[in-house]
Amino acid sequence: MPVRTFLKLFAAVAALGVLAVAGFAGYLGWSYFTSDIDTVGQVEFDRAVAIPPLADSRVAPDGTRVFDLTMQAGETDLGQGAPTPTWGFEGSYLGPTLRAEVGEKVRIDVHNELPETSTVHWHGMHLPAAMDGGPHQPIAPGDTWSPHWRIDQQPATLWYHPHPHGETARHVYRGLAGLFYLDDPDGPTLPSTYGVDDVPLVVQDKQFDGHELDESPGLFQSGGVLGDTVLVNGTPGPYLEVSTRLIRLRVLNASNTRTYHFVFDDERTFDLIASDGGLLPAPTRLTELTLSPAERAEIVVRMKPRERTVLRSLETPGDNNPWSGGQDRLDVIELRAADSLTSSPDLPARLAEPPDRADDEIVATREFRLTGSAINGVDMDMSRIDLAAEVDTTERWVVRNPDGNPHNFHVHDVQFQISSYDGAEPPPELAGWKDTVWLPPGTDAELLVRFEDYTDPNLPYMFHCHVLRHEDDGMMGQFVVVRPGQQPGAPPTHHH
Ligand code: C2O
Ligand code: CU
Ligand code: CU
Repeated sequence: MPVRTFLKLFAAVAALGVLAVAGFAGYLGWSYFTSDIDTVGQVEFDRAVAIPPLADSRVAPDGTRVFDLTMQAGETDLGQGAPTPTWGFEGSYLGPTLRAEVGEKVRIDVHNELPETSTVHWHGMHLPAAMDGGPHQPIAPGDTWSPHWRIDQQPATLWYHPHPHGETARHVYRGLAGLFYLDDPDGPTLPSTYGVDDVPLVVQDKQFDGHELDESPGLFQSGGVLGDTVLVNGTPGPYLEVSTRLIRLRVLNASNTRTYHFVFDDERTFDLIASDGGLLPAPTRLTELTLSPAERAEIVVRMKPRERTVLRSLETPGDNNPWSGGQDRLDVIELRAADSLTSSPDLPARLAEPPDRADDEIVATREFRLTGSAINGVDMDMSRIDLAAEVDTTERWVVRNPDGNPHNFHVHDVQFQISSYDGAEPPPELAGWKDTVWLPPGTDAELLVRFEDYTDPNLPYMFHCHVLRHEDDGMMGQFVVVRPGQQPGAPPTHHH
């Protein structure tokens, strides 16, 4: 049994029964049992943050950009004294950053060299259901899967990760995740030198049992284990050397369950320029930003020579649940400015057209209630299609979290517009294109979702909570996009 689970078990027993008898031990147990994680001021920042390599690609005769992506097992130095057994793409932990231009055709040859079946899902991508990489596209050990599609959406910071039925949390926790940038060579002028002034930050919390990842379910946390070690791009205790006056950080919350409430230690402002699905209409000046699992944010930070500032995560507003980590405080990464900094162009005042779904005709309104590990009271069933949407129509999806646990809600294939959040106009950070929305206890959101281009009556896309243990436990459903008048069919059956 992992040490932490044991301690919690011990603590729970102590708290429930032994308290009166073994007063002091019981007190220690109880305080451990209820204590929040707090690493503020305690992280050494003694390792330069790793930058995921850019993936190699080649262009096939028909113009398709082709990538190779091998899923493999290995060992990684995660700062635990001995190497940690991990999984990765093209390496032992995380994966390379894929890049393609809007309009390009892409193909990814995914090779599974893991000892078990997995999948690779392109989170945030608009593509045919057969290419989506969800639970209906399993890749057996030793097999290769070669999805292909044309990039047809706003330039954005997307990502990829496994999505095997019931096993997603474990596969992602072991390290399988990577970024997928969609570029627009004609876009606005922004810091864009990869790894220099345009830096990805893949943020994950980990709990260790000795030098191994603690994969226990988490005794009291419905969302699974919360970690006290934050990795950025797989680096523990990371710092980033900054050499330019403006630095663009593309932040991905690739954690299994933790939501971060980011601030800088000196409370400096930063400009949010993009959310999940691409650039915001204009830069938005913020001092704090909440990012739930799978959400992305691109922020631009102003630096002065020799300055240092720590990005940290403080208590998350709206989440008082003691088991969700909402009261934890974690130091994430230190930015260290060089003695002299290269000047950067000013941020453009306008970045992109705002989402324009508000004037669409709404052909259906649907409600999704997230409770326990179910949506509208039913658990995920691979053989059940929960809803069919007609291509070239827009629907209003009302998502409610009446639960005591925080959840979020992710929809495959689309980028949606949030028309209302917690009963009000969405704040600027939720006003751009989104594929995932955070829902702390008691929150509702209304999403305008438009279905375009690809239809398949049999092969579904997923919608689900991106707290991965909730997803694995069944908080997921399936939808198909059909032609006008077409009836939904039946999903394929899989033999294990
Ligand atoms: Cu990030 Cu259904 O996935
Ligand atoms: Cu997805
Ligand atoms: Cu959830």
